[in-house]
Amino acid sequence: MNKLSNIKNTLLLGPGPSTVSPNVYNALSTNTIGHLDPRFIDIMDEIKKMLKVVFKTENDFCVPVSGTGSAAMESCFVNMIEPNDRVLIIQNGYFGLRMENMSQRLGADISLLKFDWGEPVDVDEVEEHLKDNVYDIIAIVHAETSTGVQNSVQQISRFIPDNTIFIVDAVTSLGTIDIQVDNWNIDAIYSCSQKGLSCPPGASPISFSEKALNKMKQRQKMVPNWYLDMTEIIKYWDGSQRVYHHTAPINMMYALYQSLYDVLEEGIDNVIQRHYNSHLLLENGLSELGLELLVKKDARLPSLNAVKIPEGLNDLDVRNKLLNEYHIEIGGGLGPFAGKVWRIGLMGHSARDENINKLLDAFRASL
Ligand SMILES: Cc1ncc(COP(=O)(O)O)c(C=O)c1O
Repeated sequence: MNKLSNIKNTLLLGPGPSTVSPNVYNALSTNTIGHLDPRFIDIMDEIKKMLKVVFKTENDFCVPVSGTGSAAMESCFVNMIEPNDRVLIIQNGYFGLRMENMSQRLGADISLLKFDWGEPVDVDEVEEHLKDNVYDIIAIVHAETSTGVQNSVQQISRFIPDNTIFIVDAVTSLGTIDIQVDNWNIDAIYSCSQKGLSCPPGASPISFSEKALNKMKQRQKMVPNWYLDMTEIIKYWDGSQRVYHHTAPINMMYALYQSLYDVLEEGIDNVIQRHYNSHLLLENGLSELGLELLVKKDARLPSLNAVKIPEGLNDLDVRNKLLNEYHIEIGGGLGPFAGKVWRIGLMGHSARDENINKLLDAFRASL
């Protein structure tokens, strides 16, 4: 008996996970083999190569972390930060707060450059701040899923000094908007599998530059977290003799492998363009319905659209109706925007015209 047969297909248009593609579902049900089986090692090597392409980097260190985006995030912070490192967190949303929380636990000397939720980071202010202040590490969220703001990592990267490690959260940006790890001098970047890559959550890509690998090598203290210690994990992901660290989530790696293959087959830049086109279609449809977006036009994230809830409508009533009657999930607001905005994600396999039209029809009938 299938104990899960009551879980019907839902169109996932929230902040993540996105709808898993049929190809990825097939990959997930492939026979599980051993984590040191040479056939699996070949798949790992292919994953690393494909990650280089989607991250637009020559970094050899591109691996998926066994865990969700937060595990990938923690991998970057825990491997890069040593106690008393001067860390600047450029913060304008919920996931910037999480960066602060993680850095605190690692004994960093933290400074915050804060901007309002719903507003993009002011690049000139960052430039000014960095004229007078020196940091070992600077961290920023590229795509703030909490508000739908896109921060200009490209412009900010120009002000990061050569001897500072630049950490970028690409959880909602990988596979949805352009990321150029090498051109933007990013040293440690992390993402997830369940948004732009249309997999279930659980295999989250990261990439480290040579500078980041050197910082790791020069650590005075061990990485204070066994599971995410990349100096050990690399011995499983690289070299002619692979060393067991933990049992890789084999079928999740199959899923990631297939989804990366699909992204590269479509072409990473075409995938990004598809997300932008989907966003424009949604933006037009919402405006016809008289719905307004929270974020100003030039800072909008194609993959996450925060919509102001009109006066007199109840957030949960509408979301429940969409879910129960139309089998469509959208997200609610976070922090100061709880109950005030809906968050519509256009990510990965979900970012297609037919899905946006379904949502707009459901909105038309529900509002
Ligand atoms: C920008 C950002 N960073 C980090 C995370 C954490 O990822 P996860 O929930 O997969 O652990 C999320 C999750 O939505 C996110 O949107």
